[in-house]
Amino acid sequence: MTLWLPAHRAPELGERVAWWRAREEALRRHGPLRLLRAGPSPRTPGIHRRLEAWLPFGTWREDVYEALRAWFGPALEELGVRLERGALAHARSWVDARAWLPPLGVHRFPSEALAALDEPEAAHELLFALYAPPRWGAALGRYPDRLARLVEALAGRRRLRAWDVGCATGEGTWEFAAALGAHRSLEVVGSTPWPLERLMAERGVRPHDPAASAALASFRRAHAEDLAGACVRFVVHDLRAGPLPGAFDAVLCHGLLGGLLRGADAERAFAHLAGALAPGALLSVADRFREDRARTARAQVRASAERAGLEELEPGLYRRPIPGPRGATAQGRSGRSGPAK
Ligand SMILES: C[S@@+](CC[C@H](N)C(=O)[O-])C[C@H]1O[C@@H](n2cnc3c(N)ncnc32)[C@H](O)[C@@H]1O
Repeated sequence: MTLWLPAHRAPELGERVAWWRAREEALRRHGPLRLLRAGPSPRTPGIHRRLEAWLPFGTWREDVYEALRAWFGPALEELGVRLERGALAHARSWVDARAWLPPLGVHRFPSEALAALDEPEAAHELLFALYAPPRWGAALGRYPDRLARLVEALAGRRRLRAWDVGCATGEGTWEFAAALGAHRSLEVVGSTPWPLERLMAERGVRPHDPAASAALASFRRAHAEDLAGACVRFVVHDLRAGPLPGAFDAVLCHGLLGGLLRGADAERAFAHLAGALAPGALLSVADRFREDRARTARAQVRASAERAGLEELEPGLYRRPIPGPRGATAQGRSGRSGPAK
């Protein structure tokens, strides 16, 4: 496998691997080793707590980050990658880490997973898995109804500029471009705050996940004609910092507000989304969160949309009104609720 980042130097893992083996041995002799099964382990608060006494997870995570920095440190610095923002940030114990990241799932013990990082290919695979783990859910086919509704609402516009906020590895961005693209001039910008995610989106490949890479490649092949007039690009951008420059005809923000951005952060983020809308532009906010979290997220989005003066076309789909002569909106004047041209 070709490495995307130059390997700098091999980490010195010997002492750390020995330290972890000693702890695992203690768990074997004196603790409930069954906490670590060969297959998937249960992941209850009790198990996380008990494992923590034998295998302190924060220490293991630092050992892994050290190894990744040894291999790829200069490139990570140049790209502005912060390892602590990757998927391991929220793992509560080794069993979470194993369940969440396929490259770790093959190891029963933390010492084995650490020892494997003496190969640059394994370190590279884990590095990218940190920024596109299956549990973050980016995939094709996530919001088909919303996509159909957007296409209908944008019908008739020959030139479009769109922004997919929180694009992950780009599947939704390509899908949106393909759905809109046929016979128009279209620019779609996907954004993510994580440089490694942007790299995967830009290349259309997840180095650690051949199945996802193949699915996206085959989608793009199948929709080559629809995508012919589309300019799709990906940038690093944190929504908390403000909107991207310029005005957009459509802004998508799926799987972000109420999940990774909550409370006051989500409130500010919404104002930045609204600020990016041209008159008559559409904003789509959607999620597939757990039902309890989704309810809260949707109520907050609706309140933010009202404050921002957006019209609701359906829950989660909003439009910036076109100002009329004395402040009346185009819809107000015409009484229509179809898309503004
Ligand atoms: C759950 S994924 C959603 C991916 C895709 N939009 C979908 O719905 O399938 C959340 C994405 O939000 C993005 N993200 C996380 N924090 C962000 C922030 N502060 N500003 C902008 N995007 C962010 C990352 O690209 C991350 O992959």
